[in-house]
Amino acid sequence: MNIPHAVPCTKKGHTNKLCWLSTLADNDGAEISRQDDILVCNECAAFKEIINRGFGRRTADMALGSTIATLLRQVSDRNISLDEARQQLEKKVSELALMKIITDAVVKTGDLSRALKIILTGVTSGRAFGFNRAGIFLVDQRHEYLQGMDAVGPENWQAAIRIWNELHALSFEQQINNILKAPQLGRDYLQMIIERIKIPLANKSNFLLRALWSEKHTFFRKSEMDPFVVGGILKHLDFNEFVAVPLRAEGIQLGLMVADNFYTNKPITEASIDALETLANTCISVLEITVLHEQLSQRLQELERVNQLLRENQAYLLQAERLADIGRLAATVAHEFKTPLVTIGGHARRAIRDINTPKFKKKDLDIIVSEIDRLEKITSEILEYSKPSKFDIKSYSINDLVKESLEFLEHKLLNLGIRLRVRYADSDPHIAVDERRFRQVMFNIIDNALDSMKTGMHLKVETRALEGYAALDIIDSGCGIPDDLRDRIFTFFFTTKAKGSGLGLPISKRIVEDHGGYIEFESKLNSGTTFSVYFPISGQK
Ligand SMILES: Nc1ncnc2c1ncn2[C@@H]1O[C@H](COP(=O)(O)OP(=O)(O)OP(=O)(O)O)[C@@H](O)[C@H]1O
Ligand SMILES: [Mg+2]
Repeated sequence: MNIPHAVPCTKKGHTNKLCWLSTLADNDGAEISRQDDILVCNECAAFKEIINRGFGRRTADMALGSTIATLLRQVSDRNISLDEARQQLEKKVSELALMKIITDAVVKTGDLSRALKIILTGVTSGRAFGFNRAGIFLVDQRHEYLQGMDAVGPENWQAAIRIWNELHALSFEQQINNILKAPQLGRDYLQMIIERIKIPLANKSNFLLRALWSEKHTFFRKSEMDPFVVGGILKHLDFNEFVAVPLRAEGIQLGLMVADNFYTNKPITEASIDALETLANTCISVLEITVLHEQLSQRLQELERVNQLLRENQAYLLQAERLADIGRLAATVAHEFKTPLVTIGGHARRAIRDINTPKFKKKDLDIIVSEIDRLEKITSEILEYSKPSKFDIKSYSINDLVKESLEFLEHKLLNLGIRLRVRYADSDPHIAVDERRFRQVMFNIIDNALDSMKTGMHLKVETRALEGYAALDIIDSGCGIPDDLRDRIFTFFFTTKAKGSGLGLPISKRIVEDHGGYIEFESKLNSGTTFSVYFPISGQK
C-alpha cells in the first residue's frame, strides 16, 4: 500500500496546506521511483478530480474516496497519526471487500427474499459488520405501507451463543453461499415478528416512518423514547438502542434497515453506522432492481394465471355470450316472426275458406310456402348461430377457395348483368378455415354487393397477403352505406331491404371472428363499398 507523505503544497494560495506525496514502494517497502509521484492537496481541484476519476461514481468507490479525504484532513489537522490513518484505510478497504461479496451475491440471486437475507447476514455476521440483529422494511408497490420484510438475529441469549458458534466455523463467503444454494430459506423467529409489522405511510407520526423520510440515519434509545411507543414495540421485541438507516434510490424511499447490539450491548459507534450506511447505499441500486424484478415476475405470474383462466373459460364465455345474444334476440325474433305469421295466417284462412270454391287461388299457397321458407331460413340460421361452432378446419390457399366459390356465382352474375374482375395475391397465402363457412361469409357479402348494384356495374374480388393475415376484398360500385347506418349493419335483423332478414353480416362477422379474423368496411354514398375480410395466415401450406 502507498503511504502518503506530507509536504507543503506548492500551489498558489495553498502555502499553509500540506500536499500528499504518494510514493511507489516495492515489496520490501523501499522506494523505487519518485518519478510517478502524485502531488495533491485536499483543497486542490486536482485532488478532487483524482478522487473522482480514480474512484469512479460507484457508491462503494465514493465511500472509499470520501474516507481517504476524511483521513487526509484528519492527518492534516494532526488529529490522527499516519499509522492510524493507514489502519482505518485498511479497515475501510476490507469492509468494501465484504460489500463486494454481498452485492455480487445479491446480483447473482435476483430473488428478493434471498437478496434481503444476504444483506442482513452481512450486517449481522461477526465476520462482516457484526451487529447482533438486523431487519429490513420495504415500501410496498403502491406506496401505501412500510412493510417488515426480513430480519436476522437470535431469539435469545442461548440461541445467540449457539448460532454464533455454528457460524464461527464458516467463512463469510460460505455463509453467503449457503443462502444462495439453500433450496428453501427457513423463516426464523425474528423474521416472523418483523413480517407482522405494516405501517401505513399516511401515519406521519410513526417513529419508523420519521426515520424513513429522514436524510440520514436515526438513532433510537429506549431511555429517550416515548414510553407509550416503547411499550408498543416491547410487545414484540425487547431492545436498548438501535439505528435505522433509510434505503433511498434516486431520492425515492425504498425502505429502512434497522440494526442493534441487544445481546452484546456493544455501543453502536459512528464507524459502524457509517459502515451500515455505506452497505445500504451500495446495496440499494441492486435491491431496487431486485424489487422491480420481483414485482415484474409477480405481475407476469398474475397475467399468466389470468391468461390460463381466460383460456379455460374462453369456450364457455363464447357460448355464454352467444346465449346472451340469443336472449336479446328472442324479443326481436318474436317481432320478426309476427309479420310473416300474420301473412301466413291470413292467406291460410282464406285458402281453407275457399278451397272447394272457384274463389280459391293457388297464389295463397305460394305466398304461404315462400313465407315459411323465409322463416325456416331465419330459424336455421339462428339455431346454427346458437350452437357452439364445430368447424372442420383445414389449411387452404385463399386464392383456390375464392376461385372455386366464384364458379358457383357465374350464373347469377350473368343474369344480373354484373361484370366481375378478380385479382389474386401473388404469394398465394394459406388460411386455416372451415371451407363451407368461408363460402357462407363470401356469399353473404357478395349478395349484399349485388343488391346494391345495377346492371352493367362492376364487382371486384381480390385477395391480399399482409403481416399475419390474408385478406379477401369485395369491392362494389353500388349505392354505398349512409353514415348514420354504419354502426347498425352488423346488428341482428337490421335490414334496409324489403325481403332482407338482416342476418347476413352479423352471422358473417361471428364466423370470421371464430376463425380468429375480423371484418372491416369502407363505403362512400352513391359510389360503392369495400368489405375486407381478414383471416390469420396458417403455418402450413
Ligand atoms: N355492399 C353494401 N352496399 C350497401 N349496403 C350494404 C352493403 N352491405 C350491407 N349493406 C347494408 O347492411 C344491411 C345489413 O346487411 P345484412 O347482410 O346483414 O342483411 P340483409 O342483406 O339486409 O339481409 P340478409 O339477411 O338477407 O343478408 C343491409 O340491409 C344494407 O342496408
Ligand atoms: Mg345480406
